[in-house]
Parts: sequence; structure tokens; C-alpha cells
Amino acid sequence: MSGNELQYIKMAFESNWIAPLGPNVNAFEKAIAEKTGTKGAVAVSSGTAAIHLALLLLGVTEGDTVFCSTLTFVASANPILYQGASPVFIDSDPESWNMSPKALERALRVSAFEGKLPKAVIVVDLYGQSARMNEIVYLCKEYGVPIIEDAAESLGSLYKGKASGTFGDYGIYSFNGNKIITTSGGGMLISNDTEALEKARYLATQAKDPAPHYQHSVAGFNYRMSNLLAGVGRSQLKVLDNRVRLRRNVFNMYFQALSDLPGVKFMKELEGTQSNRWLTTLTIDDRKAGMTAKQILDALNKQNIEARPVWKPLHLQPLFKRAKYFMHDEGGSVSDKLFETGICLPSGSSLTEVEQHRVIRCIRNIFDSTIRKRVEMKLQEYEV
Ligand SMILES: Cc1ncc(COP(=O)(O)O)c(C=O)c1O
Repeated sequence: MSGNELQYIKMAFESNWIAPLGPNVNAFEKAIAEKTGTKGAVAVSSGTAAIHLALLLLGVTEGDTVFCSTLTFVASANPILYQGASPVFIDSDPESWNMSPKALERALRVSAFEGKLPKAVIVVDLYGQSARMNEIVYLCKEYGVPIIEDAAESLGSLYKGKASGTFGDYGIYSFNGNKIITTSGGGMLISNDTEALEKARYLATQAKDPAPHYQHSVAGFNYRMSNLLAGVGRSQLKVLDNRVRLRRNVFNMYFQALSDLPGVKFMKELEGTQSNRWLTTLTIDDRKAGMTAKQILDALNKQNIEARPVWKPLHLQPLFKRAKYFMHDEGGSVSDKLFETGICLPSGSSLTEVEQHRVIRCIRNIFDSTIRKRVEMKLQEYEV
């Protein structure tokens, strides 16, 4: 928390706006739309709810297919299942880790040939890195398929000078507790189509028809954000730029201290983009490093340092075992390789320099002891 959140919560208490909706919700929506340069925003209970609403607005229903990045958290694809539609997963591009335009192009071509284009493409901006939106938007326009940009992890990032999340027909953000700013739980749907956003508000508020009595013509949802949490969001949004600066500093310090180690490769920042560096991520080439990513994760965890593997690709999840998958090229699945070799380092905005130095020292020690062991083994060989 930034320290100013209670002020907005107090305002809600004093004016008795405790019910869902209220002035904080309206102001938070306006502030997000302004910050990201979109015409409108709808505050909801989670990023997952925002994706679900976007699918509803695009008319996704039973029997439809929806393309989705494979390297992501399961919440990107779960709403496809809520609608009874089938996900088709698209591999990562090796540089950005995000949706491969090459794989997307093939997937669109094949589905057009089969006469069943997807109803939507969900493109994820992973760990703060924007996907190659220029290419992806171009391809989707060519085939007439709408885009939902899942920018849950990339609020505050820029792609070619524009806010990440604003490149699709709809964009979504998450304010879950682990995100760069948080309302403890919450999300936002953004778009330039203000009429569609009005429909999203209607669907997210139990689809109450404009009648003096309670009348409903379609099934609705209870997806709106509460006025109390929107107060937290308003205050958090004010510190977003600072949070981005802090997370980028965390990345830079890791990069300077660890990028010389053998087999260590940090996630790049695409040209013309600025990542919020929500998490600092890297890959380990075990042949050069002399150890696997898993061994490093285990060693860090033994030191009580919580580092994690990268998301397990969705096409590998038991939940989606029957889903179709399009790889980047014949060279093998890029996302499988990223999953096998990737590490997320502790990257919180409140991580102190001392704490970060402990993580760095620990990683360097792991490498030093591996190199020492290798040298000893070589020496033993010579002695024999
Ligand atoms: C890529 C991605 N998409 C969607 C979500 C869902 O957001 P929420 O937890 O607010 O439902 C998350 C995070 O939780 C996420 O990381």
C-alpha cells in the first residue's frame, strides 16, 4: 500500500457508499481510462471477470473456438471454458516469450482453410512484456478476428509509446494482490467502444433491464468492483509510475550482478517498448551453467528465497489436454523450453537492496560451488 488508501476508504465510510458501485468506482474507471488513453473502462471484481465479459461482448458461445497464448496463467483461458467454447493455444515467440506471430499466422490460415475462424484471440503480455502487437493486430485485421489483450501483468508498460493493454478491441488489467498495483482483488475492462462498455456494465450487474421493477431478459453476473476497493485502486494508481520505476530498478540490479554468469539469459525488452518488469525473469542453459533451472530454484528455496518457475504452458495442463496447439516452428515448442529453463526472481516493489543482494549472493554462490566442483573433477581426472 502507498499509505493514502485509507483516505479514500474513509471518504466512502463517511458518505456511507459501502454498497458496490459509488463515486470511487466512477473515479477509478475515469482515472484508468485517462492513464491508458482509452475512451472508457469498467471496474470489475477480477481480471478473470473482465476477460469473461470481453468474450460475452464478442458473442463467444458454445462450439466456438478462441485462440490464446499458451504461456500464461490459467485465468487467461478459463473464461473460454465458462462460455462452452474451445481454446486453441499459440506458442511463444523466443524473444518476447509472448504469442508468436508466426504460429498465429499458421493457426489463422489453417482455421480459415477449415472454414472455422476463431471468435477471438486472447493475447497475453507476460511479466510486463508487451506481445508483438503490430504484427498480431495486422494478422487479426487481415482475418477479421477481434483481439482481447490480457494485460493483467503489464499495467504501466508501453508499446511504441502507447499503454500496454490498449491494442485490442478490448483490454483487461488485474488488481490482484500480487500485481504491480492492487485493490486486493479486482480488474478492469477497457475499450474505445463505449457502447460495448455500457453493455459490459449491464451484464456485470445481473443484467437488470431498464424497468422500474426487477426485470431480466438475459443471464447476468455479479462482477462489479465495490466502492471500497475502488478507493484503494484510486490511491494505488497514483503510485503506478513509481512502482514501475522500482521494478525496473530491481531488474537492472539483477541484470548487472548476474548477466555474466554462464548460461544465464534475462528476458529481453523488445525494441520500442518499455516493460514494467513486473517480475524479473531469466532462463538457464544447463549445458553452460552446469545445472538446471530446477536445481537453482531448489537451492534458493533451501535458503528461504522464494523464486518460482515460469507459468506452465496451458497446452501442457491436464485441463486442456484435448486442445489444439500451434508451435512457433518445427524447431520444437518454444514455450515448453521456456517452462523447462525459466526462473522468476523475487521482484516485489518493496524488496530492499539488502534483500536483493542476499538473492544475488546466493545465486553467485550456487554458480561458484558448481564451477569449483567441475574444476575439482577435472583435477581428479588428471591425477588418475
Ligand atoms: C496473465 C493473467 N491473466 C489473467 C489474470 C487474472 O486476474 P485476476 O486474478 O484478477 O482474476 C492474471 C492474474 O491473476 C494473470 O496473470
